[in-house]
Amino acid sequence: MSETIAFRSEALEQVNKIIARYPEGRQKSALIPVLHLAQKEFGGWLSVPVMDYVASLLSIKPIEVYEVATFYTMFNMKPVGKYVLEVCRTGPCMVSGSEKILEHIRTTLGIKDGETTPDGLFTLKPAECLGACGYAPMMQLGKFYHEHLTTEKVDEILELCRQGSIALD
Ligand code: FES
Repeated sequence: MSETIAFRSEALEQVNKIIARYPEGRQKSALIPVLHLAQKEFGGWLSVPVMDYVASLLSIKPIEVYEVATFYTMFNMKPVGKYVLEVCRTGPCMVSGSEKILEHIRTTLGIKDGETTPDGLFTLKPAECLGACGYAPMMQLGKFYHEHLTTEKVDEILELCRQGSIALD
C-alpha cells in the first residue's frame, strides 16, 4: 500500500499563503517556494509522488514541476544525507582550490560526487557559482556559506556535523 503524501497542516497553511501572493490562475508562480517547502517536509529530496502532489496543489501538470525541479541544483532528485556539502567548482572557486577541497572531502568521506555516506550523514554535491566568488573557495551547508575553505577548515566543519553542532538554518 503506498503512503499518502500530504503536507502537515502548518506546512499546508504556509503553502496556501505562498499561493495567495499571486493572482488567480497564476499559482504556478508559487512553484519554487512550494518546492523548497516540499523538499524540507519530505526528507530533503523530491520524489516523483511528491512532485505530483505539488502539481496537484498548484493545479498544474506534473511535467511543469519536473522541468523546474530538475533544472535547479538546489532541488535534490534522490535521497540525500543529513548534511549536503555543496562545494562550488566554478571559475573563481576552481582557481582558488575547490578541486583540492572536493578531493579532500571525497577521500575523507570515501564517497564520489553526488554520493551519500553509508551512515546517511553526508552527501557531496559539487555546485556551480553560489555568488560568493570573493570568498573562494566556498561551500554551502544548509542555509549557510562556509568560505575561504582549507582542508583543515573542512575537517573542522565535518567534525561539527558529526557532533550535530553545526547550524543548518
Ligand atoms: Fe564559487 Fe562564485 S565561483 S561562489
